[in-house]
Amino acid sequence: VLIVELIAQKQRGESLTAEQIEYLIQGFTRGDVPDYQMSALLMAIYFRGVTDQEGRLFLNSMIRSGKRLNLSAIPGTKVDKHSTGGVGDKTSLIIAPVLAVAGVPVPMISGRGLGHTGGTLDKLESIPGFYVHLSDEEFERILKQTGCAFGAQTTELVPADRKLYALRDVTATVSIPPLIAASILSKKIAEGTNALVMDVKVGEGGFLRDQNEAEELAKMLVRWSAEENVETIAFGTNMDKPLGKAAGNGPEVKECLDILKTGQGDAQLIALSRALGAGMLMLGGKSQDLPSGEKLFDEILDSGAGFEKFKEIAIAQGANPFALDHYEQVSVPKFKHEFFANSSGYLTRVHPQEIGWALVDLGAGRYQSVDTVDHTAGIIFEKQQGDPVKAGDLLATACWSTPRNEKAALSRFEKAMVVGEHKAEDKPLLMFRCDKSGLTKLI
Ligand code: URA
Repeated sequence: VLIVELIAQKQRGESLTAEQIEYLIQGFTRGDVPDYQMSALLMAIYFRGVTDQEGRLFLNSMIRSGKRLNLSAIPGTKVDKHSTGGVGDKTSLIIAPVLAVAGVPVPMISGRGLGHTGGTLDKLESIPGFYVHLSDEEFERILKQTGCAFGAQTTELVPADRKLYALRDVTATVSIPPLIAASILSKKIAEGTNALVMDVKVGEGGFLRDQNEAEELAKMLVRWSAEENVETIAFGTNMDKPLGKAAGNGPEVKECLDILKTGQGDAQLIALSRALGAGMLMLGGKSQDLPSGEKLFDEILDSGAGFEKFKEIAIAQGANPFALDHYEQVSVPKFKHEFFANSSGYLTRVHPQEIGWALVDLGAGRYQSVDTVDHTAGIIFEKQQGDPVKAGDLLATACWSTPRNEKAALSRFEKAMVVGEHKAEDKPLLMFRCDKSGLTKLI
């Protein structure tokens, strides 16, 4: 097979066959298909698209590129949760321990920050000692012992996705819904989960801005996973502003630990955690429907048991117990910068993508995969998009410890927070839900 012919075939908008896709994916994983040809193919796919059938073939070939974990020794329906990525999106840290308290095993394989978005692994690593590079045996043992494990993709788990994702990230070809579905589901199916709740982010802070595209992605996730006996509920949720009061790894961990301890915190962050958590409780067989799942979620969150569970999981993964009880003492930024409103009116917009790139400049994310992360770097919002403000009000505080590109970061933050005369349109958080019975619009 000449790869150049396959690229030309896709360029003309023709479909690839099962054999051709298998050849491309396994060849690329082995290193026989070079990055430049795969990049050209990805760009052709970006403009021409792939059919549902081709998307499934990508998914199946990607799963076959590595090994599959078998979690059947762990009793109960294993339920994972995954987000397509956002800014300030930290719900996994709240939901996973609450679900573990309810008795639903949560095998969570997470990622790192990508582009302008944050990643669960980077957040967890801002807790001193927290170790995420678990072997398959460690992952299974901790999951069995505590009811949850937070792992990183190992070299054997969908190696095709590791390589392909890295290439998509640097060739502006992430935003292809069928490839997003194949990427996410390949990892979830290979990790051995029985069910999945997906948070499909819609808006400027995510990878998909268009609701129709997000709905298509949600439907694909539900249909394709069902073929592998993984039941999925996908929620479409708003990502037109940062989620919660903090963005950046350490500050987000602090926000989550406070919520787990007290049950109190940012209303939208808690509402989203509750909605996703209720879906997981239902899939895990712990509640009959979503409303009773939400009630159970709140009971556990209010009890503070989620905090104790998070501590137990974190300690099993090497975290320093003192750090969990006194997080504000172990994650102290060296530098701070405050942003004030220069006129009165409303905080009209907080542009999430700009905030996300500012965080990368500040050191909370990476320009390149080899970069180290400043875990204290972040921004804490005193006002949220839509709040009334008076001239001189404190809007937010940026914090960091290791100088990187803070001048660029501070000017991006400044630009991202727009004070104006008008309150921006307040979009509802939950936009749609898609499950095996179809798609339901929630607005
Ligand atoms: N997250 C993934 O794991 N893969 C994608 O393609 C997009 C988001």
